[in-house]
Amino acid sequence: MSAETLDHAIRRAADALRSARRVAVLTGAGVSAESGVPTFRASDGLWEGHRIEDVASPDGFRRDPKLVWHFYNGRRANVASVQPNPGHSALAALESRFASNFTLVTQNVDGLHQAAGNRNVLEVHGSLRRTRCTECGAVRDRGLEALAEMPTCALCAGLLRPDIVWFGEMLPARIWEEAVAAVEACDVFLVVGTSAVVQPAAGLIHLARHRADWIGEGEGATVVEVNLTPTVASHAAHIGLYGPSGQTLPRVVDLLRND
Ligand code: APR
Repeated sequence: MSAETLDHAIRRAADALRSARRVAVLTGAGVSAESGVPTFRASDGLWEGHRIEDVASPDGFRRDPKLVWHFYNGRRANVASVQPNPGHSALAALESRFASNFTLVTQNVDGLHQAAGNRNVLEVHGSLRRTRCTECGAVRDRGLEALAEMPTCALCAGLLRPDIVWFGEMLPARIWEEAVAAVEACDVFLVVGTSAVVQPAAGLIHLARHRADWIGEGEGATVVEVNLTPTVASHAAHIGLYGPSGQTLPRVVDLLRND
């Protein structure tokens, strides 16, 4: 994207936010990329030769729990060593501005939004910090401490799994309902660093856009996509900011601060 077009898009995004009452955000792995957390589909969608779906599905876990824990223990160690980046900080600054009228829906399980200061965070795909027992269902917050190769439950000795929503699993119902309500109520919907291919999260983008088309200009949400490149959801965006979110989001927030 040329500098001039990007400047213009950043100004339009800031204008939309300036007149917004309620803001919702959907984030994906791209917002954490500049912190040093690998995205899922950046290269070939593989991890050590395994398809992401194989290390992130109930079937994959049944077949080879040790391999799946190897993947997640690696992700936990990676996240323990990184910090939020200026993109996360810009989203925290937006929450400060909009207070309770701001909702951040994230597909990320790394906790970096909370580390940056966001409070109203809906983790629709769970959290790397929690384990869940496959026998008794007990959920525990383990932070990012190192876990055993195949950790077991302190209560019943059952095999633990990450408390993460895997391919083919339902999203946590209450959190998902809150996410839908926030998107339905917002005036600006920011979609940051997601390839928008995983449902139902990506459906939020279409929900926001169709509502905007249905309610009419100036009343539905303005959808702003923030990504390195256009995605399959770009046609649903009113404004596209194509560049690293750690650079573009702070520029939007700076324009708002200079009001
Ligand atoms: N700034 C903005 N966007 C970026 C950046 C960056 N610095 N770096 C990468 N991106 C974009 C990529 O262009 C891509 O569109 O982030 C997106 C990352 O896409 P995915 O790797 O597919 O991640 P995500 O959309 O979060 O995946 C959704 O799939 O594997 C499952 O459950 C997992 O939550 C995950 C879900």
